[in-house]
Amino acid sequence: MLDGKKVLFSGMQATGNLTLGNYLGALKNWVSLSDEYECFYSVVDMHSITVRQDPAVLRKRARTLYTLYVAAGLDPEKNCIYYQSHVSGHAELAWILNCFTYMGELNRMTQFKDKAAKHADNINAGLFTYPVLMAADILLYQTDVVPVGIDQMQHLEITRDIAERMNNIYGDIFTIPEAYIGKAGAKIMSLQDPSKKMSKSDENPNASIYLMDDADTVMRKFKRAVTDSEGQILYRDEQPGVRNLLDIYCAVRGISPDEAVKEFAGCGYGVLKEAVGEAVNAILQPLQKRMAELEADKSYLDGAIRANAEKARYYANKTLRKVQKKVGFPERPR
Ligand code: TRP
Repeated sequence: MLDGKKVLFSGMQATGNLTLGNYLGALKNWVSLSDEYECFYSVVDMHSITVRQDPAVLRKRARTLYTLYVAAGLDPEKNCIYYQSHVSGHAELAWILNCFTYMGELNRMTQFKDKAAKHADNINAGLFTYPVLMAADILLYQTDVVPVGIDQMQHLEITRDIAERMNNIYGDIFTIPEAYIGKAGAKIMSLQDPSKKMSKSDENPNASIYLMDDADTVMRKFKRAVTDSEGQILYRDEQPGVRNLLDIYCAVRGISPDEAVKEFAGCGYGVLKEAVGEAVNAILQPLQKRMAELEADKSYLDGAIRANAEKARYYANKTLRKVQKKVGFPERPR
């Protein structure tokens, strides 16, 4: 609890080009939470270096992600939007939590196994302890709720385990965070293989709509989207491509699948694809315009970055000092 509100924390990595899936699945929903919760949204750049990055590219992408948070409607006066690397408490708490996390627990993390297989030439200790840094992110702000995708649930579980373990030893230090189960973000699938999630790391550029795609590109990608040979627009498991197009349409327009199916009754796939393309462009075009405006107003964003880093540090340090004392570090001379 902070100022009578529950604390909400989430973060995104600035790697890869952000997709429509990131926007509809996460960002768009975050915007509606800022009144109800005290929100912390981090650009988790420290997590990004667990795989090798080009420094200039990482810096640029982190700034773009920060800008996108704001362009999407997260007001930096109401939400604490900050770079993880600007708050040293994340690394400091992560070290302490590392000493209360077992190798065996980390060995079970499926994301570690996947990433280790994918980056076999760079299986570094940071990749292994990635979930501990994530636990530090969450616990540092005494977070009540964490909106996460299903792929991050295991990391939230280990966060809870570590927090409970430390609470058992030292008394209540941490709030035990829960997954945020609200209006679920839409799960957007690849346009080329609707059995796979739309991903910023997909090698086929036609599989994903990038948030920075221009209107023609968006339309072309939807026209090429994989469907089926059923020839009817129904919302069902047997037609995953069509269902994905309907999901996108519904998420963008804020309507239900039933309503969408009614709207397209008797239409061919060409009509559906064009309508989805237009609906998506109707949200991406203003978003891109807002991004450009924010990029042009450097001092506004710089101010928000500075003020929010300070705010985050303030709350982070409160928790950190408490934990440092509990584990037996000497008092800091004033
Ligand atoms: N690991 C998360 C992801 O890749 C990003 C993340 C880092 C995060 N720290 C977090 C998400 C804390 C929620 C809470 O999606």
